Amino acid sequence: MKKFYLTTPIYYVNGAPHIGHAYTSIAADVLARWQRLDGCEVFFLTGTDEHGQKVEKAAAEAGIDPQRFTDQVAADFRAMAAAMGVSNDDFIRTTEERHRRACVALWERLAANGAIYLGHYEGWYAVRDEAFYGEDELVKKPDGTRLAPTGAPVEWVREPSYFFRLSAWQEKLLAFYEQNPDFIAPAARRNEVLSFVRGGLDDLSVSRTSFRWGIPVPNDPAHVMYVWLDALTNYITAAGFPDEAAARWPFWPADLHIVGKEIVRFHAVYWPAMLMAAGIAPPKRIYSHGWWTVEGEKMSKSLGNVIDPRALVAEFGLDPLRYFLLREVPFGNDGDFSRRALITRLNGELANDLGNLAQRTLSLIARNCDGLRPEIGVRIAADQALLAASGALADVLRERLQRLAFHEALEEVWKTVRAANAYIDHQAPWALRKTDSARMAVVLRVLLDALRGIATVLQPFMPDSMARMLDQLGVPEGERNLAALAEDLPAGASLPVPSGIFPRFVEAAG
Ligand code: MSP
Repeated sequence: MKKFYLTTPIYYVNGAPHIGHAYTSIAADVLARWQRLDGCEVFFLTGTDEHGQKVEKAAAEAGIDPQRFTDQVAADFRAMAAAMGVSNDDFIRTTEERHRRACVALWERLAANGAIYLGHYEGWYAVRDEAFYGEDELVKKPDGTRLAPTGAPVEWVREPSYFFRLSAWQEKLLAFYEQNPDFIAPAARRNEVLSFVRGGLDDLSVSRTSFRWGIPVPNDPAHVMYVWLDALTNYITAAGFPDEAAARWPFWPADLHIVGKEIVRFHAVYWPAMLMAAGIAPPKRIYSHGWWTVEGEKMSKSLGNVIDPRALVAEFGLDPLRYFLLREVPFGNDGDFSRRALITRLNGELANDLGNLAQRTLSLIARNCDGLRPEIGVRIAADQALLAASGALADVLRERLQRLAFHEALEEVWKTVRAANAYIDHQAPWALRKTDSARMAVVLRVLLDALRGIATVLQPFMPDSMARMLDQLGVPEGERNLAALAEDLPAGASLPVPSGIFPRFVEAAG
């Protein structure tokens, strides 16, 4: 079985989970579910990033010790993943013992290979980004204060530090990007990384002495490891590193790291350099997505517009939210979340286009075919055309999802949904009942088979609703994968009583 390892970033536990976190996780979940449906053995990892100054500060502000603080917030992130239907195979916390062991092993390999040396760090540090910035990257405000390019405040830091010899990796990284043109996508992000690396690389400070909340450096416990070295290592910890006999080690190198656009540099520059320096294969691909605003504004605590995705699930249901997030905005671009846009898609595309199609087809079968799956019968060109479209969906989506073009994948499915609606209107099986009941049965069977194709490929996007639709279509549980679509289902099977899958959303008055 082909193996597929994919990851979300691990989330900082300095604040509560919000829609931006849910987005990364849901997108990754769709791919994980798709790969499973397509017959791969998947390892899908998510988790929490629990060390560093930022988390230490948040715990201090909450007045609890960092371990108890991270226990609470990590539990909330785990609950959020479950509430979003995320089908992760493992959940890693960087405060776990397995992770400390992996970080120490990686550090020791780097040190043994001469990739780490002790020096002295002096420079600008942004706690909010847990990142160092060069003077030339900073934005100077009229009052003389400096900000990171992300807008985060920076402070001048001077302390002894271990360094990773990143400067030695410029040419090797550029060669690696050249040989692996798909390593970073989309193209805009790849170009940013290329120009950053072409601009020259400084050695990277990889330890801190000014706070304690981190993994101690082997043989020099006055230092804790830089949080990004610690965080990135999670991807190999979960695969069993340093135990290369571990059951999951064959999953490494990861097939795909999904990340937000602001953390591409860490994943596409520092991470492959550190791995190669330690003699470990770099991941195969990094794909970066954009950022969501809310009703046109940046999400922020001070604006009070941070959305808890669980509140949206309570109001609209999980699958409409998952559908909306992936349909509304091309993955890679920034997008805006608005209730209105969500309601429009829910009512138009889910309730109307797809929900009604299924409901009309299934209730006609219940009423006019004794609720039994009709025979295939003799098919005419219009029947073949619709079935060809639904039959092609698996291949079409495989190609779109390989490019993480979720919105295109959904648009392709909806082309077939619209074709099926045009077909049912044109064939008018309700009228055929009196004039040609044999033809009516053929038409209803065509619709049933087209819906089966549609519901099968939509499972990764809307797992619960599509499971219900496949139940109503009488598709046995073991026959819901892509390969099973090649076989027709037997006529005569008794279908359950249909019931609506996507209720229309009606805004409460007042
Ligand atoms: N801990 C690091 C990642 C370490 S990975 C080895 C981190 N954590 S984070 O919690 O700040 O962000 C995690 C993910 O959430 C990022 O991919 C980020 O892009 C995503 N989002 C956070 N806010 C977002 C939006 N408003 N919109 C879309 N995604 C955003 O970075």
